[in-house]
Amino acid sequence: MREQKPQWWKESVAYQIYPRSFQDSNGDGIGDLRGIIQRLDYLQFLGIDLLWLSPVYDSPNDDNGYDIRDYHGILAEYGTMEDMDELLEEAGKRGIRLVMDLVANHTSDEHAWFIESRSSKDNPKRDWYIWRPAKDGKEPTNWECAFGGSAWEWDETSGEYYLHCFSKKQPDLNWENEEVRREIYNMIDWWMDKGIAGFRVDAITYIKKDPAYPQLEVENGRSFAPIEKASLNQDGILDFLREMKQEALEPRGAITVAEAPGVPLEQIPDFVDETDGVFTMLFQFGHVDLDIKPGGKAEFIDWNMKKFKDALSLWQKESNRQGWMGLFLENHDHVRSVSKFASDGPYREPAAKMLAAYYFLMRGTPFIYQGQEIGMTNCHFESIHEYRDIGSINLFRDETGKGRSPEEIMDYLGRRSRDQGRTPMQWSSEAEAGFTSGEPWIKVNPNYKQINVDDNMKDEDSVLQFYRQLIALRREHPALVYGLYEDLFEESGELGAYRRVYEDQEFIVICNFTDQDVELPELAELSLGREQILSNYKQRKSGVLQPYEALVFKSAAETGGER
Ligand code: GLC
Ligand code: CA
Repeated sequence: MREQKPQWWKESVAYQIYPRSFQDSNGDGIGDLRGIIQRLDYLQFLGIDLLWLSPVYDSPNDDNGYDIRDYHGILAEYGTMEDMDELLEEAGKRGIRLVMDLVANHTSDEHAWFIESRSSKDNPKRDWYIWRPAKDGKEPTNWECAFGGSAWEWDETSGEYYLHCFSKKQPDLNWENEEVRREIYNMIDWWMDKGIAGFRVDAITYIKKDPAYPQLEVENGRSFAPIEKASLNQDGILDFLREMKQEALEPRGAITVAEAPGVPLEQIPDFVDETDGVFTMLFQFGHVDLDIKPGGKAEFIDWNMKKFKDALSLWQKESNRQGWMGLFLENHDHVRSVSKFASDGPYREPAAKMLAAYYFLMRGTPFIYQGQEIGMTNCHFESIHEYRDIGSINLFRDETGKGRSPEEIMDYLGRRSRDQGRTPMQWSSEAEAGFTSGEPWIKVNPNYKQINVDDNMKDEDSVLQFYRQLIALRREHPALVYGLYEDLFEESGELGAYRRVYEDQEFIVICNFTDQDVELPELAELSLGREQILSNYKQRKSGVLQPYEALVFKSAAETGGER
């Protein structure tokens, strides 16, 4: 076991805001910075001390801000740089630090750099993006972008194709070009000067491309192959990442959470080792992507809660030895966890609390996604026209275009669309859930009358109050931050349980993943001599765990644990 140094960000609890859907302050139906400022007291009441703000930079919004037009400007719909400064200051007064998105794999096609780059083949910024001539009158390779269709876009003016891993309005920067890297490091510096704590690092595992630009093997009946094989976590990427760490992140003491799909467990030391790793924390996606075929197009595969817990426990065990995880169940790219992993029916409240206890007390820094703390659910979208996400809309177009039924794709989107996590925050039972006085940019989930912050604040047994308890517990007990993780009932598909041990303290978290009583004769023995410090039920039932019941026990550890 490696000694893990105490760090403030390990002890933090983070909250992610998707600005477009959080709080509108001026009635245009779009969340904004002033709306966030108005809600800072709420975040303080919840007890978080780190805020991850999804992009608020100037952007044409093809991918809701992940297509940046100006790294140093704020999108007018969201407010001004003065609002941003005020947000930083007001958050600071409440003990809340800010993490911004660092989107450095690509810019918007409307970014000044790209406008120059595309203007002609001999423009000095031509090499800042990835340009290739046509091959036999077609795209240079058969790579498919993440949002469907070719990853290459033809540029009429200069007569070449440019590469985009995401939408065609998100051209990839050429990280092989030193000037590009320098600009990104300067931009990091500029934002650190403003007083932010660091970055959530967007799509960072895409920055290196296979230098051979190979044709990829294509599945039957398809014309393209997913770009990931040639652009995800490629050999040589670490040279770029290490340089970014040395030149920009480390000198400024920036904390970083890497969005790191494609990083295998063995690479934890490279990515998040305490001393040698590039980033401070890592998001892995095994547990949220367990329901779909990797690299497939809108195809579900069988999964169950055993797979869910195995996906999490794999990284938990590894992080005992090295590295630090960003813990999460939801974000702006994923559906609502209570709907996916538990139940949004009659058991929604205990189920949401159980999932909370389960992931929150693991080893890592927990992130709460807006609305998760009140148990928001997936929303039923009546037609494709209600969707706003470019990925979902393109997928519907492409897959129905290939002959799959609209019903099948709507069912897929109902369980996978990123818009499930993007419906507006449900503040109250007033019109549009108190999100806006105007017309919201995306549909509000009609269940806001039953599920909203106001009611959660009034009810002392609410999901929100349970999250507050979890946060308080974690603040009180270093074992829940630094303790080693050890699985319990490892073979069970019905129970998720683990132990955290640190110095002379031991905690046990035990959760029923099902909507049935689960008999557990060992429970009596397990709780013997231990103090129950948290439960999502008022009453215990002897020898069983009730539907979605979660229990947390504390005791003196038998053996002194290490960090
Ligand atoms: C990340 C973001 C996602 C965005 C993509 C391209 O995955 O989380 O929302 O579409 O990067 O920037
Ligand atoms: Ca607004």
